[in-house]
Amino acid sequence: MGSKGGCGTTTLATQLGALLSSSFSRNSLLLDLHPDFGDAALYLKLTKGRFHFFELLENADRLDSDFLQSFVMRHSSGLDLIPAPEGSVASREALPRGALAHTLNFLSARYEFILVDLPPALNEENLAVIRDCDQLYLVTVAEVSAIRNVVR
Ligand SMILES: Nc1ncnc2c1ncn2[C@@H]1O[C@H](COP(=O)(O)OP(=O)(O)OP(=O)(O)O)[C@@H](O)[C@H]1O
Ligand SMILES: [Mg+2]
Repeated sequence: MGSKGGCGTTTLATQLGALLSSSFSRNSLLLDLHPDFGDAALYLKLTKGRFHFFELLENADRLDSDFLQSFVMRHSSGLDLIPAPEGSVASREALPRGALAHTLNFLSARYEFILVDLPPALNEENLAVIRDCDQLYLVTVAEVSAIRNVVR
């Protein structure tokens, strides 16, 4: 998650995911949780799939291995991606209760690592992911001179 927009969150998430998959052969999945203009697929040079992560959440009660495959895109590194919507979701309905927790639980049984590219907001979905995650990377930017002062 970025402390604000444009901090390098998607760069970190996509590079780390590709590295885990290709160099360490770890079964990894990246979720793009941006409701608007998520660009993890673009960074991985993948054309966004027919379905996005929010549609998976809306249909969480239908989740099984076959259903999951229609949402997953595979990067050449071996990293799996469930992309954000193409453009913006104009009117998103409230997600079914417990859909996010159920989906993350289902996915965590199938992947060693799940990386989540979160938009910089403390909305209900982000807070639920943050509460459940093992590690949170808060990405920020700093002036090089400020870093030098800290290091000295
Ligand atoms: N460590 C870095 N050093 C310099 N530039 C970087 C670094 N990480 C990312 N960038 C560049 O900064 C820009 C923003 O990066 P990125 O899209 O990853 O940020 P973001 O936090 O995901 O932004 P958004 O809020 O749009 O989702 C990109 O042009 C990227 O190439
Ligand atoms: Mg981003």
